[in-house]
Amino acid sequence: MLRVLLALMLTIVFTSTATAQDEATLDRSATGGAQTLEDILARQRGEVVEDSFRSNLVGNPDAAADITNQLGTLGGASDPDLWRALRFDSADITASNNGPAATVLMQDGGMRWLSFREGPLITYGGYLMIGTLALLAVFFLIRGRIRIDGEKTGRTIERFKWIERFGHWLLAGSFILLGITGLVSLMGRKFLIPTFGHDAFAFIAVWSKWIHNNVSWAFMLGLIMIFVMWVLHNLPDRTDIKWLMQGGGIFTKSHPPAKKFNAGQKLIFWSVILLGASISVTGLALLFPFEINMFAATFAKLNSFGISGALGLGELPTVLAPHEEMQLAQLWHAIVSFVLMAIVLAHIYIGSVGMEGAYDAMGSGEVEEQWAREHHSIWVDEVKAKEGVAPEGASPAE
Ligand code: HEM
Repeated sequence: MLRVLLALMLTIVFTSTATAQDEATLDRSATGGAQTLEDILARQRGEVVEDSFRSNLVGNPDAAADITNQLGTLGGASDPDLWRALRFDSADITASNNGPAATVLMQDGGMRWLSFREGPLITYGGYLMIGTLALLAVFFLIRGRIRIDGEKTGRTIERFKWIERFGHWLLAGSFILLGITGLVSLMGRKFLIPTFGHDAFAFIAVWSKWIHNNVSWAFMLGLIMIFVMWVLHNLPDRTDIKWLMQGGGIFTKSHPPAKKFNAGQKLIFWSVILLGASISVTGLALLFPFEINMFAATFAKLNSFGISGALGLGELPTVLAPHEEMQLAQLWHAIVSFVLMAIVLAHIYIGSVGMEGAYDAMGSGEVEEQWAREHHSIWVDEVKAKEGVAPEGASPAE
Protein backbone atom coordinates (compact mmCIF):
# COMPACT_ATOMS: atom_id res chain seq x y z
CA MET A 1 0.00 0.00 0.00
CA LEU A 2 2.77 2.42 1.01
CA ARG A 3 4.69 1.61 -2.13
CA VAL A 4 1.68 2.31 -4.31
CA LEU A 5 1.12 5.62 -2.55
CA LEU A 6 4.76 6.58 -2.89
CA ALA A 7 4.66 5.71 -6.58
CA LEU A 8 1.53 7.82 -7.03
CA MET A 9 3.01 10.83 -5.35
CA LEU A 10 6.35 10.59 -7.04
CA THR A 11 4.72 10.11 -10.40
CA ILE A 12 2.69 13.26 -9.94
CA VAL A 13 5.52 15.32 -8.49
CA PHE A 14 8.18 14.21 -10.88
CA THR A 15 6.27 13.65 -14.10
CA SER A 16 7.51 17.06 -15.05
CA THR A 17 10.95 15.52 -15.56
CA ALA A 18 9.53 13.62 -18.48
CA THR A 19 8.47 16.86 -20.09
CA ALA A 20 11.85 18.49 -19.69
CA GLN A 21 12.76 20.67 -22.58
CA ASP A 22 14.70 19.27 -25.43
CA GLU A 23 17.85 21.37 -25.18
CA ALA A 24 18.91 20.64 -28.73
CA THR A 25 15.83 22.33 -30.13
CA LEU A 26 16.19 25.49 -28.08
CA ASP A 27 17.79 28.42 -29.78
CA ARG A 28 18.88 31.14 -27.36
CA SER A 29 20.92 33.14 -29.85
CA ALA A 30 18.33 35.92 -29.89
CA THR A 31 18.94 36.54 -26.19
CA GLY A 32 22.69 36.11 -26.43
CA GLY A 33 22.49 32.78 -24.53
CA ALA A 34 20.28 34.13 -21.77
CA GLN A 35 16.93 32.51 -21.03
CA THR A 36 14.13 32.98 -23.54
CA LEU A 37 10.42 33.58 -23.19
CA GLU A 38 9.92 29.86 -23.94
CA ASP A 39 12.16 28.98 -20.95
CA ILE A 40 10.04 31.14 -18.70
CA LEU A 41 6.74 29.82 -20.04
CA ALA A 42 7.95 26.21 -19.71
CA ARG A 43 8.80 26.85 -16.06
CA GLN A 44 5.39 28.39 -15.50
CA ARG A 45 3.79 25.30 -17.03
CA GLY A 46 5.58 23.35 -14.30
CA GLU A 47 8.07 21.69 -16.64
CA VAL A 48 11.63 21.14 -15.53
CA VAL A 49 13.85 23.43 -17.56
CA GLU A 50 17.38 22.19 -18.04
CA ASP A 51 19.11 25.30 -16.77
CA SER A 52 22.80 24.51 -16.59
CA PHE A 53 23.26 27.30 -19.18
CA ARG A 54 22.31 29.65 -16.33
CA SER A 55 23.31 27.79 -13.17
CA ASN A 56 26.93 27.52 -14.41
CA LEU A 57 27.07 31.18 -15.29
CA VAL A 58 27.98 32.55 -11.88
CA GLY A 59 31.17 34.43 -12.63
CA ASN A 60 34.74 33.31 -12.94
CA PRO A 61 37.31 34.47 -10.36
CA ASP A 62 40.16 33.62 -12.76
CA ALA A 63 38.81 36.14 -15.20
CA ALA A 64 38.35 38.72 -12.47
CA ALA A 65 39.19 42.24 -13.30
CA ASP A 66 41.96 43.73 -11.22
CA ILE A 67 40.84 45.19 -7.90
CA THR A 68 41.51 48.67 -9.23
CA ASN A 69 39.21 48.11 -12.21
CA GLN A 70 35.45 48.15 -12.41
CA LEU A 71 33.84 44.96 -10.94
CA GLY A 72 37.14 44.00 -9.41
CA THR A 73 35.60 43.72 -5.94
CA LEU A 74 33.03 41.18 -7.12
CA GLY A 75 35.71 38.65 -7.95
CA GLY A 76 34.91 38.37 -11.61
CA ALA A 77 31.16 38.24 -11.13
CA SER A 78 28.64 40.71 -12.43
CA ASP A 79 25.45 41.45 -10.53
CA PRO A 80 23.44 38.96 -12.67
CA ASP A 81 26.18 36.36 -12.03
CA LEU A 82 25.76 36.92 -8.33
CA TRP A 83 21.98 36.66 -8.45
CA ARG A 84 22.26 33.44 -10.44
CA ALA A 85 24.64 32.06 -7.81
CA LEU A 86 22.08 32.92 -5.13
CA ARG A 87 19.29 31.37 -7.14
CA PHE A 88 21.16 28.15 -7.87
CA ASP A 89 22.50 27.86 -4.34
CA SER A 90 26.19 28.16 -5.23
CA ALA A 91 26.86 31.61 -3.72
CA ASP A 92 29.27 31.76 -0.82
CA ILE A 93 26.86 33.06 1.80
CA THR A 94 27.50 33.68 5.46
CA ALA A 95 24.42 33.98 7.66
CA SER A 96 24.21 34.98 11.31
CA ASN A 97 21.74 32.12 11.83
CA ASN A 98 23.36 28.76 11.27
CA GLY A 99 20.19 26.75 10.61
CA PRO A 100 20.39 24.24 7.77
CA ALA A 101 18.27 26.34 5.45
CA ALA A 102 19.70 29.74 6.42
CA THR A 103 21.94 30.05 3.41
CA VAL A 104 19.35 28.96 0.84
CA LEU A 105 17.94 32.30 -0.20
CA MET A 106 15.98 31.13 -3.24
CA GLN A 107 14.55 27.68 -3.77
CA ASP A 108 13.46 26.45 -7.13
CA GLY A 109 11.04 23.67 -6.19
CA GLY A 110 8.85 26.03 -4.17
CA MET A 111 6.61 26.96 -7.07
CA ARG A 112 6.09 23.36 -8.16
CA TRP A 113 5.19 22.39 -4.59
CA LEU A 114 2.79 25.31 -4.23
CA SER A 115 0.95 24.65 -7.47
CA PHE A 116 0.64 20.93 -6.70
CA ARG A 117 -0.66 21.71 -3.20
CA GLU A 118 -3.17 24.29 -4.38
CA GLY A 119 -4.22 22.25 -7.42
CA PRO A 120 -4.27 18.43 -7.69
CA LEU A 121 -3.84 17.81 -3.95
CA ILE A 122 -6.91 19.81 -2.96
CA THR A 123 -8.95 18.70 -5.99
CA TYR A 124 -8.32 14.95 -5.87
CA GLY A 125 -8.21 14.87 -2.06
CA GLY A 126 -11.62 16.55 -2.01
CA TYR A 127 -13.01 14.13 -4.62
CA LEU A 128 -11.75 11.19 -2.56
CA MET A 129 -13.61 12.42 0.54
CA ILE A 130 -16.85 13.18 -1.30
CA GLY A 131 -16.61 9.96 -3.35
CA THR A 132 -16.16 7.86 -0.20
CA LEU A 133 -19.18 9.46 1.47
CA ALA A 134 -21.24 8.92 -1.69
CA LEU A 135 -20.19 5.25 -1.91
CA LEU A 136 -21.11 4.68 1.73
CA ALA A 137 -24.50 6.30 1.14
CA VAL A 138 -25.10 4.04 -1.88
CA PHE A 139 -23.96 0.99 0.11
CA PHE A 140 -26.39 1.92 2.89
CA LEU A 141 -29.23 2.29 0.38
CA ILE A 142 -28.50 -1.10 -1.22
CA ARG A 143 -27.58 -3.19 1.82
CA GLY A 144 -29.25 -1.26 4.62
CA ARG A 145 -28.19 -1.74 8.22
CA ILE A 146 -26.58 -5.10 8.91
CA ARG A 147 -28.91 -6.54 11.54
CA ILE A 148 -28.38 -9.19 14.18
CA ASP A 149 -29.97 -12.16 12.33
CA GLY A 150 -30.64 -14.57 15.15
CA GLU A 151 -32.69 -14.17 18.30
CA LYS A 152 -31.03 -11.88 20.85
CA THR A 153 -30.00 -13.71 24.00
CA GLY A 154 -30.23 -10.81 26.42
CA ARG A 155 -26.77 -11.84 27.66
CA THR A 156 -23.68 -9.74 27.00
CA ILE A 157 -20.04 -10.61 26.65
CA GLU A 158 -17.09 -8.31 27.38
CA ARG A 159 -15.43 -7.28 24.11
CA PHE A 160 -13.04 -4.46 25.07
CA LYS A 161 -11.65 -3.48 28.48
CA TRP A 162 -11.73 0.19 29.52
CA ILE A 163 -8.07 0.69 28.64
CA GLU A 164 -8.70 -0.61 25.13
CA ARG A 165 -11.68 1.70 24.71
CA PHE A 166 -9.63 4.59 26.11
CA GLY A 167 -6.86 3.90 23.56
CA HIS A 168 -9.41 3.66 20.75
CA TRP A 169 -11.18 6.91 21.62
CA LEU A 170 -7.90 8.74 22.18
CA LEU A 171 -6.90 7.70 18.67
CA ALA A 172 -10.34 8.32 17.16
CA GLY A 173 -10.97 11.68 18.87
CA SER A 174 -7.54 13.01 18.01
CA PHE A 175 -7.76 11.73 14.43
CA ILE A 176 -11.08 13.47 13.86
CA LEU A 177 -9.69 16.75 15.28
CA LEU A 178 -6.53 16.40 13.21
CA GLY A 179 -8.56 15.63 10.09
CA ILE A 180 -10.78 18.68 10.46
CA THR A 181 -7.98 21.09 11.39
CA GLY A 182 -5.73 19.64 8.68
CA LEU A 183 -8.42 20.23 6.06
CA VAL A 184 -8.87 23.78 7.36
CA SER A 185 -5.14 24.43 6.92
CA LEU A 186 -5.07 22.90 3.45
CA MET A 187 -8.34 24.11 2.00
CA GLY A 188 -9.33 27.06 4.18
CA ARG A 189 -7.80 29.73 1.96
CA LYS A 190 -9.80 28.44 -0.98
CA PHE A 191 -13.11 27.62 0.66
CA LEU A 192 -13.38 29.46 3.99
CA ILE A 193 -11.99 32.91 3.12
CA PRO A 194 -14.66 33.53 0.45
CA THR A 195 -17.39 32.62 2.97
CA PHE A 196 -16.08 34.01 6.27
CA GLY A 197 -13.64 36.70 5.16
CA HIS A 198 -9.99 37.15 6.06
CA ASP A 199 -10.40 38.24 9.69
CA ALA A 200 -12.58 35.32 10.75
CA PHE A 201 -10.41 32.89 8.80
CA ALA A 202 -7.25 34.21 10.49
CA PHE A 203 -8.79 33.33 13.85
CA ILE A 204 -9.91 29.88 12.65
CA ALA A 205 -6.53 29.20 11.01
CA VAL A 206 -4.48 30.14 14.10
CA TRP A 207 -6.58 27.86 16.31
CA SER A 208 -6.58 25.07 13.76
CA LYS A 209 -2.82 25.12 13.60
CA TRP A 210 -2.52 25.17 17.39
CA ILE A 211 -4.93 22.24 17.78
CA HIS A 212 -3.32 20.31 14.92
CA ASN A 213 0.22 20.69 16.30
CA ASN A 214 -0.67 19.77 19.87
CA VAL A 215 -3.30 17.06 19.39
CA SER A 216 -0.83 15.17 17.20
CA TRP A 217 0.79 13.83 20.40
CA ALA A 218 -2.50 12.27 21.51
CA PHE A 219 -2.80 10.58 18.12
CA MET A 220 0.69 9.14 18.35
CA LEU A 221 0.04 7.90 21.89
CA GLY A 222 -3.28 6.32 20.83
CA LEU A 223 -1.56 4.70 17.86
CA ILE A 224 1.11 3.13 20.08
CA MET A 225 -1.54 1.99 22.59
CA ILE A 226 -3.74 0.17 20.09
CA PHE A 227 -0.72 -1.30 18.36
CA VAL A 228 0.58 -2.80 21.60
CA MET A 229 -2.85 -3.99 22.76
CA TRP A 230 -4.15 -5.45 19.50
CA VAL A 231 -1.21 -6.46 17.33
CA LEU A 232 -1.33 -10.13 18.35
CA HIS A 233 -5.04 -10.34 17.47
CA ASN A 234 -4.34 -8.83 14.06
CA LEU A 235 -1.72 -11.22 12.77
CA PRO A 236 -3.06 -12.78 9.56
CA ASP A 237 -4.07 -16.46 9.63
CA ARG A 238 -6.03 -19.06 7.65
CA THR A 239 -9.47 -17.93 8.87
CA ASP A 240 -8.85 -14.62 7.10
CA ILE A 241 -8.58 -16.30 3.70
CA LYS A 242 -11.96 -18.03 4.19
CA TRP A 243 -13.48 -14.81 5.47
CA LEU A 244 -12.22 -12.84 2.48
CA MET A 245 -13.31 -15.54 0.00
CA GLN A 246 -16.85 -15.10 1.30
CA GLY A 247 -16.53 -11.31 1.18
CA GLY A 248 -17.17 -11.25 4.92
CA GLY A 249 -20.69 -12.48 4.18
CA ILE A 250 -21.70 -8.87 3.61
CA PHE A 251 -23.66 -9.51 0.43
CA THR A 252 -24.52 -13.19 0.90
CA LYS A 253 -25.82 -12.41 4.41
CA SER A 254 -23.80 -15.34 5.75
CA HIS A 255 -21.50 -15.31 8.76
CA PRO A 256 -18.03 -16.67 8.02
CA PRO A 257 -16.21 -17.65 11.22
CA ALA A 258 -13.79 -15.11 12.68
CA LYS A 259 -11.54 -14.72 15.68
CA LYS A 260 -11.42 -11.51 17.77
CA PHE A 261 -10.88 -9.45 14.60
CA ASN A 262 -12.02 -10.55 11.16
CA ALA A 263 -9.95 -10.02 7.99
CA GLY A 264 -11.74 -6.74 7.19
CA GLN A 265 -10.88 -5.38 10.61
CA LYS A 266 -7.30 -6.57 10.29
CA LEU A 267 -7.02 -4.59 7.07
CA ILE A 268 -8.35 -1.54 8.89
CA PHE A 269 -5.94 -2.13 11.78
CA TRP A 270 -2.85 -2.40 9.57
CA SER A 271 -3.92 0.58 7.45
CA VAL A 272 -4.31 2.65 10.60
CA ILE A 273 -0.95 1.49 11.99
CA LEU A 274 1.13 1.82 8.82
CA LEU A 275 -0.46 4.93 7.33
CA GLY A 276 -0.78 6.45 10.84
CA ALA A 277 2.94 5.85 11.45
CA SER A 278 3.82 7.41 8.10
CA ILE A 279 1.64 10.43 8.85
CA SER A 280 3.24 10.70 12.29
CA VAL A 281 6.82 10.63 11.01
CA THR A 282 6.18 13.21 8.29
CA GLY A 283 4.17 15.25 10.82
CA LEU A 284 7.18 15.28 13.17
CA ALA A 285 9.36 16.41 10.24
CA LEU A 286 6.97 19.33 9.74
CA LEU A 287 6.79 20.06 13.47
CA PHE A 288 10.58 20.27 13.77
CA PRO A 289 11.56 21.97 10.50
CA PHE A 290 14.75 20.79 8.80
CA GLU A 291 15.60 18.37 11.64
CA ILE A 292 14.19 15.13 10.18
CA ASN A 293 15.15 14.62 6.53
CA MET A 294 14.11 11.30 5.10
CA PHE A 295 13.20 11.74 1.45
CA ALA A 296 16.68 11.92 -0.10
CA ALA A 297 17.65 8.77 1.83
CA THR A 298 14.41 7.00 0.85
CA PHE A 299 14.87 7.95 -2.81
CA ALA A 300 18.45 6.61 -2.70
CA LYS A 301 17.12 3.27 -1.38
CA LEU A 302 14.34 3.16 -3.99
CA ASN A 303 16.95 3.82 -6.68
CA SER A 304 19.41 1.22 -5.42
CA PHE A 305 16.77 -1.52 -5.02
CA GLY A 306 15.56 -0.74 -8.54
CA ILE A 307 12.07 0.09 -7.24
CA SER A 308 11.93 3.55 -8.77
CA GLY A 309 13.02 2.08 -12.12
CA ALA A 310 10.44 -0.72 -11.91
CA LEU A 311 7.76 1.88 -11.24
CA GLY A 312 8.88 3.84 -14.28
CA LEU A 313 10.08 6.82 -12.24
CA GLY A 314 13.69 6.70 -13.40
CA GLU A 315 16.41 7.89 -11.06
CA LEU A 316 14.91 9.87 -8.20
CA PRO A 317 16.89 12.87 -6.91
CA THR A 318 19.11 11.95 -3.98
CA VAL A 319 20.31 15.45 -3.22
CA LEU A 320 17.47 17.63 -1.97
CA ALA A 321 17.52 21.15 -0.58
CA PRO A 322 16.29 21.33 3.04
CA HIS A 323 13.13 23.05 1.77
CA GLU A 324 12.47 20.26 -0.71
CA GLU A 325 12.58 17.74 2.12
CA MET A 326 9.94 19.82 3.91
CA GLN A 327 7.81 20.20 0.78
CA LEU A 328 7.82 16.45 0.13
CA ALA A 329 7.05 15.79 3.80
CA GLN A 330 4.04 18.10 3.54
CA LEU A 331 2.74 16.46 0.35
CA TRP A 332 3.23 12.93 1.63
CA HIS A 333 1.64 13.85 4.98
CA ALA A 334 -1.45 15.21 3.21
CA ILE A 335 -1.80 12.44 0.58
CA VAL A 336 -1.49 9.61 3.12
CA SER A 337 -3.89 11.46 5.45
CA PHE A 338 -6.49 11.67 2.69
CA VAL A 339 -6.21 7.92 2.07
CA LEU A 340 -6.49 7.14 5.79
CA MET A 341 -9.45 9.51 6.19
CA ALA A 342 -11.28 7.66 3.41
CA ILE A 343 -10.58 4.31 5.09
CA VAL A 344 -11.61 5.64 8.49
CA LEU A 345 -14.88 7.05 7.10
CA ALA A 346 -15.80 3.51 6.03
CA HIS A 347 -14.76 2.23 9.46
CA ILE A 348 -16.87 4.82 11.28
CA TYR A 349 -19.83 3.88 9.10
CA ILE A 350 -19.63 0.15 9.88
CA GLY A 351 -18.90 0.80 13.57
CA SER A 352 -22.00 2.98 13.99
CA VAL A 353 -25.01 3.19 11.63
CA GLY A 354 -23.84 0.38 9.34
CA MET A 355 -24.12 -2.53 11.76
CA GLU A 356 -26.55 -3.20 14.58
CA GLY A 357 -24.80 -3.97 17.86
CA ALA A 358 -21.28 -2.98 16.74
CA TYR A 359 -21.05 0.37 18.54
CA ASP A 360 -21.59 -1.23 21.98
CA ALA A 361 -18.18 -2.86 21.66
CA MET A 362 -16.53 0.56 21.92
CA GLY A 363 -19.32 2.22 23.91
CA SER A 364 -19.95 0.10 26.99
CA GLY A 365 -17.43 -2.59 26.02
CA GLU A 366 -20.17 -5.26 26.31
CA VAL A 367 -21.78 -6.80 23.21
CA GLU A 368 -24.91 -8.91 22.72
CA GLU A 369 -23.83 -12.55 22.71
CA GLN A 370 -25.78 -13.29 19.52
CA TRP A 371 -23.96 -10.43 17.73
CA ALA A 372 -20.65 -11.86 18.89
CA ARG A 373 -21.59 -15.37 17.70
CA GLU A 374 -22.57 -14.06 14.27
CA HIS A 375 -19.47 -11.92 13.67
CA HIS A 376 -16.73 -13.47 15.81
CA SER A 377 -17.76 -17.09 16.41
CA ILE A 378 -14.27 -18.49 17.07
CA TRP A 379 -13.53 -15.70 19.53
CA VAL A 380 -16.78 -16.39 21.46
CA ASP A 381 -15.87 -20.07 21.73
CA GLU A 382 -12.41 -19.10 23.03
CA VAL A 383 -13.90 -16.75 25.63
CA LYS A 384 -16.44 -19.37 26.72
CA ALA A 385 -13.72 -22.02 26.91
CA LYS A 386 -11.71 -19.75 29.20
CA GLU A 387 -14.77 -19.24 31.36
CA GLY A 388 -15.28 -23.02 31.40
CA VAL A 389 -18.56 -22.92 29.42
CA ALA A 390 -19.01 -25.50 26.64
CA PRO A 391 -19.27 -23.98 23.14
CA GLU A 392 -22.81 -23.75 21.73
CA GLY A 393 -23.86 -26.95 19.92
CA ALA A 394 -21.29 -29.09 21.76
CA SER A 395 -22.80 -32.14 23.43
CA PRO A 396 -21.63 -32.97 26.93
CA ALA A 397 -19.16 -35.89 27.26
CA GLU A 398 -20.91 -39.09 28.34
C1 HEM B 1 -16.84 8.09 15.59
C2 HEM B 1 -15.83 7.39 15.17
C3 HEM B 1 -15.61 5.92 15.42
C4 HEM B 1 -16.48 4.91 15.78
C5 HEM B 1 -17.97 5.00 16.03
C6 HEM B 1 -15.70 3.71 15.90
C7 HEM B 1 -16.19 2.48 16.29
C8 HEM B 1 -15.44 1.34 16.48
C9 HEM B 1 -15.95 0.09 16.95
C10 HEM B 1 -17.39 -0.19 17.34
C11 HEM B 1 -14.92 -0.79 16.97
C12 HEM B 1 -14.96 -2.23 17.46
C13 HEM B 1 -15.41 -3.18 16.41
C14 HEM B 1 -15.55 -4.56 16.98
O1 HEM B 1 -16.08 -4.72 18.07
O2 HEM B 1 -15.15 -5.52 16.34
C15 HEM B 1 -13.73 -0.09 16.51
C16 HEM B 1 -12.48 -0.66 16.35
C17 HEM B 1 -11.40 -0.01 15.82
N1 HEM B 1 -11.29 1.36 15.54
FE1 HEM B 1 -12.84 2.66 15.58
N2 HEM B 1 -14.39 3.99 15.58
C18 HEM B 1 -14.30 5.34 15.28
C19 HEM B 1 -13.16 6.02 14.89
C20 HEM B 1 -11.93 5.45 14.69
C21 HEM B 1 -10.78 6.15 14.19
C22 HEM B 1 -10.76 7.63 13.82
C23 HEM B 1 -9.76 5.26 14.11
C24 HEM B 1 -8.34 5.44 13.65
C25 HEM B 1 -7.82 6.52 13.23
C26 HEM B 1 -10.27 3.99 14.57
C27 HEM B 1 -9.55 2.82 14.61
C28 HEM B 1 -10.05 1.61 15.02
C29 HEM B 1 -9.32 0.36 14.94
C30 HEM B 1 -7.88 0.20 14.40
C31 HEM B 1 -10.15 -0.64 15.44
C32 HEM B 1 -9.83 -2.15 15.50
C33 HEM B 1 -10.09 -2.78 14.15
C34 HEM B 1 -11.54 -2.73 13.74
O3 HEM B 1 -12.42 -3.07 14.52
O4 HEM B 1 -11.78 -2.32 12.59
N3 HEM B 1 -11.59 4.15 14.92
N4 HEM B 1 -14.09 1.21 16.20
